[in-house]
Amino acid sequence: MTHDDTRALDDPVGQSLRGTHAHLARRLGKAATYLPDVTTFAAVPADAEASAWADLAELLGPGALADMFTCPATPPPDWDPVFHLEGRRMIRPADGRPSDLRLPTGTEVTELGPADVPKMLDLVARTRPGPFWPRTRELGTYLGIRANGTLVAMAGERLRPPGWAEISAVCTAPEARGRGHAARLVDELATRITARGQRPFLHVTETNTAAITLYERLGFETREQVTFRGFRTP
Ligand SMILES: CC(C)(COP(=O)(O)OP(=O)(O)OC[C@H]1O[C@@H](n2cnc3c(N)ncnc32)[C@H](O)[C@@H]1OP(=O)(O)O)[C@@H](O)C(=O)NCCC(=O)NCCS
Repeated sequence: MTHDDTRALDDPVGQSLRGTHAHLARRLGKAATYLPDVTTFAAVPADAEASAWADLAELLGPGALADMFTCPATPPPDWDPVFHLEGRRMIRPADGRPSDLRLPTGTEVTELGPADVPKMLDLVARTRPGPFWPRTRELGTYLGIRANGTLVAMAGERLRPPGWAEISAVCTAPEARGRGHAARLVDELATRITARGQRPFLHVTETNTAAITLYERLGFETREQVTFRGFRTP
């Protein structure tokens, strides 16, 4: 696979669960999902037959959320829709870092560890960047910025299909916005991902124009429109 190969992005959850995140996976037949508290994402093949959905229902249990992320497969009719959100998948081309990118200097960026999880959960509760659970941090590197000892901004790596790393949980406390914290963290993660020979990508909902503008300023381009969908197992 070359670094320009975007096929792995067509099934980012399934590809992560079979590869880098295999140790965080629960699998049955052609279905897979993450361990509880890591993330709720689940995967079946894009052309899933009834047996794959039955496997997923058995893995998740009755009446559970099947968060299918961007998987386009259609579940059987007795799976009730829970949410349906339009969004986009963005990637930064290999040479995509804008040469005139200006970022704040003097901001200290630190790696967040297990002891930081309560503060990360607090920040997520205040800013709602997307799903984040007590063990989501185990999916990759999470970076933060503190002000007077308080965590005010963070971003980290989530899905890891081969050759790629998804940047996620990008959030800044309301009182610390507009200072370039998110730009600094996303650019730092993207630079680290690129340095290890992978490519950064991310997802954003279509209504989040502030985030889309930020990502475009950092050199990300829209690869495709996606739909995030969740269902309730029978
Ligand atoms: C989107 C979000 C992460 C942006 O955080 P932020 O730290 O304010 O972002 P930045 O400061 O890096 O950039 C925001 C704006 O501030 C401006 N800015 C950057 N550095 C600045 C500085 N030193 N001084 C003043 N303004 C600055 C930028 O130009 C940018 O404007 P733009 O959107 O027109 O490009 C934040 O609004 C947030 O937490 N939203 C809720 C959670 C969310 O939606 N996350 C994204 C999920 S995909």
